Amino acid sequence: MKKIVFDSYDQLSKAAADFVAAEINSKPNLVLGLPTGGTPVGMYKNLSEMNKEGKVDFANVTTFNLDEYLGLERSHDQSYWYFMNKNLYSNVNLKEENINIPNGMATDMDAETKAYDKKIEDMGGLDLMVLGIGPNGHIGFNEPDSYLIAPTHTVTLTESTIDANARFFTSREDVPKKAITMGVGNIMKAKKILMLISGANKKAVAKALNEGIVTPQNPATMLLMHPDVTVLIDKDADQ
Ligand code: GLP
Repeated sequence: MKKIVFDSYDQLSKAAADFVAAEINSKPNLVLGLPTGGTPVGMYKNLSEMNKEGKVDFANVTTFNLDEYLGLERSHDQSYWYFMNKNLYSNVNLKEENINIPNGMATDMDAETKAYDKKIEDMGGLDLMVLGIGPNGHIGFNEPDSYLIAPTHTVTLTESTIDANARFFTSREDVPKKAITMGVGNIMKAKKILMLISGANKKAVAKALNEGIVTPQNPATMLLMHPDVTVLIDKDADQ
């Protein structure tokens, strides 16, 4: 695991965008896994600007998002589709048919999870997976537990994640209790991983990555077993 520390969130965001752009420039049909959350917003802003300036071309890129809440329509302003559309899809020349995000409104969730995994496999797997991290160590919506699930699956969110994400909703009661997420198996199969960590509330989980102990109680520590992970972290989150 390679770690690069930045003085500010803005510098981290620029470096994250440069990293993703370099991967696309070296493989224009990149299969790209993408996160939501507050942390990647700056990266998406930089990538949108770079696309307008002709520095990166999304025309042949395929994206797969990590997760989505269950029960929110795409048009709901807190759905992850809405977030992605606002922060990236509508700003760059990604083709609509190359955009993938789990369908949190599917009537048959078992079929939806299996179809999502099959589509990733049919594309030859993820070339690059970009990840944020929850304050409790979750990646995607793989929550701390006594075990982790490998394929895409539905999950009941922990109270701490509902608390953490309540800031985006009008009230805590509005936060969905369930989500659909890629599993740690999908993430670990990515050829390359870029993890973004920002802010003082990530200090504890970031510190655990330095300790070398892999535990399902901190799902991000699974990444210690992946051969090609780069962590971009700002100094507020670094110990
Ligand atoms: C959500 C997402 C995660 C993301 C996390 C962190 O829970 N499901 O994929 O990493 O938020 O968000 P933030 O960057 O806002 O701390």
